Order: sequence, then C-alpha cells, then structure tokens
Amino acid sequence: MKIKLVFLLILNFIVFNQTFSEEMFNLGKEVFLNKGNCATCHSLKDAGSVANVGPNLNEIRPDIGRVINSVTNGIGVMPAMLGILSDKEIKAVAYYVSEASIN
Ligand code: HEC
Repeated sequence: MKIKLVFLLILNFIVFNQTFSEEMFNLGKEVFLNKGNCATCHSLKDAGSVANVGPNLNEIRPDIGRVINSVTNGIGVMPAMLGILSDKEIKAVAYYVSEASIN
C-alpha cells in the first residue's frame, strides 16, 4: 500500500516535470521566433533561423545563465529585452536556447 503510494507520487512528479519542461521549451521557441526577435539576428538550427548579425547559437552553446544575462541586459548591439519580455518569457527563451543549441 505504502509502496504503491510512493510510486504514484514519483510518477506524478516525473510527468509533471516533463510537462513543465515541454511548456517552457515551446514558449521559449515561440518567443525566439516572434516577440523576442532573436531569429532575425541569430542562427539556431532548431528554430530554422539562419541570420548572422549575432553569434551562431549552435556554435557558442550558451548555458541558461548566459542567455538570461544577455537577453535581460543586452550585450554589444543586441538590445536589452527587460520590459519588452516578461520574466517568464526571458526564462523560457533562455531555457529553449540552452536546450536547443546542443543539437
Ligand atoms: C539586433 C540583433 C539581435 C537580436 C534581436 C538578438 N541578438 Fe543576441 N546577440 C546579438 C549580437 C550582435 C551579439 C554579440 C554581442 C557581443 O558579443 O558584442 C549577441 C549575443 C548573444 C548571446 C551571447 C551572449 C554572450 O554572453 O556572449 C546570446 C546567448 C544571445 N545573443 C541570445 C539572444 C536571444 C535569446 C535573443 C532573443 C531574445 C537575441 N539574442 C536577440 C544580436 C542580437
């Protein structure tokens, strides 16, 4: 009885976690292509973008913290997105880029 409950709790956690990651990934991709304008300046295979104003993201493979920093504060000619994108959108696009650029 107890084992069954523990098993169900773990299963529930895994499923919830996966749904959450998928949601962040999809929202991030949407922001990358549309509201964030990232695709007009960056190449990223998963997004099908081939722009080269900024670095190719498949080459620099930034981790999530690096994307959050550059998107929030801007870097070089890349504009800061704080106030344009919500906190959640910045986290989502950073999660998306860090995951998608590995492939
Ligand atoms: C107007 C063009 C432009 C747009 C729009 C743009 N970027 Fe950039 N991005 C750049 C340029 C140029 C650099 C290189 C800046 C430098 O190193 O001086 C850069 C750098 C970066 C870096 C590397 C930062 C580092 O630490 O070296 C990441 C990650 C990045 N951009 C992600 C994004 C994401 C995600 C978006 C969308 C929210 C985005 N960029 C939108 C032009 C752009």
